[in-house]
Amino acid sequence: MDAVRIYGGNCLSGQTRIQGSKNASLPILAATLLIDGTCEIVNCPDISDVYHMLRLLQSLGCLVSREADVVRIDTKRVAECDMPADSVGVMRSSIMLLGALLARVGEVTMEYPGGCVIGKRPIDQHICALRRMGVEIMEGPEEFCARAERLYGAVHELPFVSVGVTENLILAAVLAEGRTVIHPAAREPEIQALCEFLVGAGGKISGVGTDRLVIEGVRKLHPVRFHVPADRIVAGTYLAACMCAGGRVFLGDAPCGQMESVLACAEKMGVRLSPSPEGLFVEGRACKKPPGALVTAVYPGFPTDLQSLFMAAMVFSGQGGRIEETVFENRFRIVPELVKMGADIRVAGNCASVCGGRPLHNTIVEAQELRGGAALVVAALAAEGTGIVTNRHFIDRGYEDITRSLRELGAEIELA
Ligand code: UD1
Repeated sequence: MDAVRIYGGNCLSGQTRIQGSKNASLPILAATLLIDGTCEIVNCPDISDVYHMLRLLQSLGCLVSREADVVRIDTKRVAECDMPADSVGVMRSSIMLLGALLARVGEVTMEYPGGCVIGKRPIDQHICALRRMGVEIMEGPEEFCARAERLYGAVHELPFVSVGVTENLILAAVLAEGRTVIHPAAREPEIQALCEFLVGAGGKISGVGTDRLVIEGVRKLHPVRFHVPADRIVAGTYLAACMCAGGRVFLGDAPCGQMESVLACAEKMGVRLSPSPEGLFVEGRACKKPPGALVTAVYPGFPTDLQSLFMAAMVFSGQGGRIEETVFENRFRIVPELVKMGADIRVAGNCASVCGGRPLHNTIVEAQELRGGAALVVAALAAEGTGIVTNRHFIDRGYEDITRSLRELGAEIELA
């Protein structure tokens, strides 16, 4: 069965190591297309989104191999080709191949990308910005075709901050003719990782970590070996697990420096934290209401990807809390599932009010997207009885094995 079974009601105790970052490795894998030769990506997570990205790269002619956590990609034989529609459709990051392929082969025909159903997720800004760099784009109902004999640097004054648009423009700009300016650029750590990868390969990027990136196009990049940083969202997931179920856990390699807003919120909710370069020690459980609403925002604000996980923690804190989602318009899809478990949550527009202090009981609930699915698993750890979370494939998109990691933290949980 495509599910997870959880025996709830136990405190956590133990340690686990945080896997490499999904949202860093996907654009970096796409970026290997810009490099003629073999790149090695170390600490690359073994998750289904990476599998689909590697499949897409293979369909374009790349030779791909994996040994433990090291992925090798040889791009020497890359040729223009059709990409498997099921892999393009399944994840949002397939759009990253657009900027990279335009730079490498000058022409791309692809279906519109998929990803979690958490809102409209249009690609209008990707298209609009690439047109500024000399790309001709024909949009059909099912697929679109983009062509550029040469990419030209451009000044992009973007209407809002977008992680994906920033990444696509970086990929299009490193080998373009002339200078590209991206403002306001997203400042997520995953963008910094992409820039570090490209600079290591000979790219010229300044302003890394700020909201103004300046990229001077170079003629060629060279192969590199790159270590993917740990996944701050996975670390936040297991932090939320401890906040729900209570206990003492150590999250090895958790990138605490990238989690400031998350750690601040967790502390306000009553858990004790000891961040260090080796990882994050968490003790206690959520027991307080955070002052004011938890508002999701672009980095360094509270990440939208951890919103549903912290909603679960609020449910168990006894005091509840308020959430305002400002990034995606449809990110409260777990609410009816948590309500099935006994939670009292009211949604009005992009705000949710969580009433604490109600006992939760496990039942069968349905994951509908990646982080919401993980949030249901985490909630089930703290609820009474045995629970099932169905549609595990959504969770497998971003977690190597959520049951193994949570077992290492003392949970009673198994694949079902
Ligand atoms: C990335 C992350 C995702 C995270 C999100 C916000 C990856 C693989 N995914 O997604 O986990 O939740 O950042 O931190 O890294 N938008 C448009 N037009 C566009 C592009 C975006 O309207 O052309 C809108 C989106 O609908 C959304 C907002 O911009 O409301 C932000 O989206 P964006 O930052 O682009 O998110 P993703 O790159 O899709």
